[in-house]
Order: sequence, then C-alpha cells, then structure tokens
Amino acid sequence: MSAVVIGATSAIGRAMVRHWASRGHIVAVAARDVAEAERIAQDASVRYGGAHVAVPFDALDFDGHKAFIDGVAGRLGGIDTAIIAFGDMGEQSESEHDFDAARRVIDTNFTAAASIAEALMAVMGPRHTGTIVGLTSVAGERGRRSNYIYGSAKGAFTLYLDGLRGRAHGDGVHVLTVKLGFIDTRMTWGLGGKIPIASPDDAARAVYDATRAGTESMYYPHFWAPIMATIRAIPPSIMKRLSL
Ligand SMILES: NC(=O)c1ccc[n+]([C@@H]2O[C@H](COP(=O)([O-])OP(=O)(O)OC[C@H]3O[C@@H](n4cnc5c(N)ncnc54)[C@H](OP(=O)(O)O)[C@@H]3O)[C@@H](O)[C@H]2O)c1
Repeated sequence: MSAVVIGATSAIGRAMVRHWASRGHIVAVAARDVAEAERIAQDASVRYGGAHVAVPFDALDFDGHKAFIDGVAGRLGGIDTAIIAFGDMGEQSESEHDFDAARRVIDTNFTAAASIAEALMAVMGPRHTGTIVGLTSVAGERGRRSNYIYGSAKGAFTLYLDGLRGRAHGDGVHVLTVKLGFIDTRMTWGLGGKIPIASPDDAARAVYDATRAGTESMYYPHFWAPIMATIRAIPPSIMKRLSL
C-alpha cells in the first residue's frame, strides 16, 4: 500500500507519515523543505521499515502540480491514500491591508488544494481506487471577524470536497473531509484559551481509522461538531458584534 502526505513538515503531516508508515504503507513525504522531508522519510524508515521517499512540493507552483502527482504515482506504483495537509493561516491583520497576503492564504488553502485534488483524481479515477483526505478546518464553517480570509478559503475547500465526493464516488475513489479543531502545532501556538487542544498523533490515528471505516466527513476532535452547530446557529446580527 502507498500513501503521500502533501505538506508533510507540519506537526500534523509528520504524525500522518509516522502513522501510515507504521501501518505498512510506503509513504511519499512531500514538502517544500526537501532536506526536512528527507529526514522525516528516513526517520519513518528507521522506525517502521520501508523505503519511504522525499519529494519536493510547492503548493503555489500550480504549473508543477500535475507532474508532481504523476511523479509520486510513478515512484510508488500508484497512490492508495493522498493526504492534502498543507495550509497557511497567514495573519488576518496583514491580509486586511495587503491583498497579496490574503491571496497567498486563499491560494494555498483553497486553489492549490483543489488543483492537487484534481491531479489526484486524474491518477486515481482510471484505476478506480484510492482515498483523498482533505484537511480542512472548523474555521471554514462560519465566517468570523478574526480569521475570515483563512476561514473562507478552508470553507471553499470543504465545499469543493463535498462536490468532489459525488464525482469520485462514480470512479470508485473515496473522499474524506477532516474538519480539524485545535490541534497542537505551530499554527495554533498561543491560541489555546479554554478549549482543549488535541495531539497530532491522536489526530493521525483518528484520520487513519476513518479512512479504514469509509467515513465521508468528520470533525476532530469530535466535540467540535456541537460547538460548530451552535456557532452556525448564531444570527448574523449578533455574530457581527462578537469578537470571535
Ligand atoms: N493546527 C490546527 O489546529 C488546525 C486546525 C484546523 C485545520 N488545520 C489544518 O491542518 C493542516 C496542517 O496544519 P498545521 O497546524 O500542522 O499547520 P502548520 O504547522 O502551519 O503547517 C503547515 C504546513 O503547510 C506547509 N505549507 C504551507 N505553505 C506551503 C506551500 N506553499 N507549499 C508547500 N507546503 C506549504 C508548511 O510547510 P513549511 O514547513 O515549509 O512551512 C507546513 O508543512 C493545514 O491544512 C491546516 O490548515 C490545522
């Protein structure tokens, strides 16, 4: 079995590499920091065996996406599971004053993620097998004053995955949407507050189990489902006054 983790240098990406490798998959570790990707691949080989490989990947190099996915499929002999893990939360305050910064966040979290998923479908569809895992966010469930640029890009990716699932189903490809709440990574450093933060390893285990169970969409941690149901129910006239 083979897997590719795309955006593998994050804490969540690393945990995904370890978890899939520990379950006997050969993993392609894709990242823009190739030296770090090599270290992650070697670490997985030492821990769990298997010839895991590092592959250069830049989400904003749109012209290179097809060749990147074709190259990974060629090296692994097909792709059984692809985890779209890259993301960029950016700085909302910067995005509000500099649309280039906002565009980078939108392009990374939505446009690039959709482009990669399309390239994956071109490889998985004709084989009538494969699982595409999209890491999206509870931030994409309701526009919030504090992070609506990142949130809208993640929300667009969530909608995209919903639609892709219908198309992929006809081709025998499975799409899993993972709406993450707070996970302990550099992205959430300092954002903690009173809401519990989950570990990347626990998230990787839950996502792996969901791929095996054929789950279509999930929150992780699971308690975010009722929280987001409550936040979605807040009327806009009240929402605009909240400092969420
Ligand atoms: N942590 C959370 O609580 C949380 C909550 C909701 C959703 N998520 C989502 O979960 C995923 C992983 O999050 P994280 O917290 O582990 O984030 P993170 O630590 O900020 O890592 C982001 C990852 O994306 C990569 N990346 C960013 N821009 C890229 C580009 N242009 N090309 C290639 N790679 C790029 C980064 O690579 P470099 O190492 O080279 O920077 C890094 O591997 C993201 O999609 C994030 O939006 C996280």
